[in-house]
Amino acid sequence: MPAASHASSEQAPGQPFDVRPFAEKVGAEIVGLDLSRPLNDADFARVHQAHLDYHVVVFRDQHITPQQQIDFSRRFGVLQIHVLKQFLLAHHPEILIVSNIVENGQPVGLGDAGKYWHSDLSYKELPSLGSMLYAQELPSEGGDTLFADMHLAWDTLPEHLRKAVEGLSAVHSYTSRYSHGHNADNWRPTLSAEQLAQVAVVSHPIVRTHPENGRKALFVSEGFTTHIVGLPEDESQAILTELYAHSVRPEGVYRHKWQENDMVFWDNRSLIHLAGGTPDHLRRRLHRTTIQGDAPF
Ligand code: OGA
Ligand code: MN
Repeated sequence: MPAASHASSEQAPGQPFDVRPFAEKVGAEIVGLDLSRPLNDADFARVHQAHLDYHVVVFRDQHITPQQQIDFSRRFGVLQIHVLKQFLLAHHPEILIVSNIVENGQPVGLGDAGKYWHSDLSYKELPSLGSMLYAQELPSEGGDTLFADMHLAWDTLPEHLRKAVEGLSAVHSYTSRYSHGHNADNWRPTLSAEQLAQVAVVSHPIVRTHPENGRKALFVSEGFTTHIVGLPEDESQAILTELYAHSVRPEGVYRHKWQENDMVFWDNRSLIHLAGGTPDHLRRRLHRTTIQGDAPF
């Protein structure tokens, strides 16, 4: 991918920072990098490579403004604006507020983001390359985010399932979990006709090739995938159920326990993710930017 770089940042002094892989096969933390300062091209290239190698990187101890999060995110590509306009940060529509906080009877952000395993915006023709989630207010317990390696899921997929899905596509729908009684807590507002038009269903290959690392990955998830194109409903559901279970086996999962001032940047082409859940009485708020990727192939 041609990672755009800001002409103005090319001359910035280098920052000494460490990339420390986690014990799990997925994920690494980046320590000693200050994202409020411009990154020069060499430092940016290291961050980019770490993102490709570990699929999710955790920038510790960041103190950045919404505009700085947006600017840094833009170095990876075009930003996507979420369809739920009511949860976009004022004056910064590139930021989606993810929060369980209710103020004056109104949710301040998307409260049930990630309740099911998913890849962000897989329901778009151009799904997300990656998302950055920046901690603003963290609960004293719970609120973890889990990530599952979809390259590993493909690499270890039993032969009968590989044969069953190779070359097939699946339909992804933003509203797949919307209208089936999962909306009882009212986090998801009813969509206007205009919003519905923005989230018309799409189909994508079940096995995609990562455009930058060349590896194959499974690209289905319980959150947005509804069925396999061309198969009878029962067969489709049976296969998807097996794929979902296989995708999230513990060996391929990293559980992120948030620390204050973490900014987490994951690759939606390599991983699916899940919100572990926050006790209702505790407050949690994060800011998400979402980078557009390519059409899956
Ligand atoms: C998201 C998401 C999970 C979480 O913001 O895209 O899925 O733990 N969030 O908040
Ligand atoms: Mn998500």
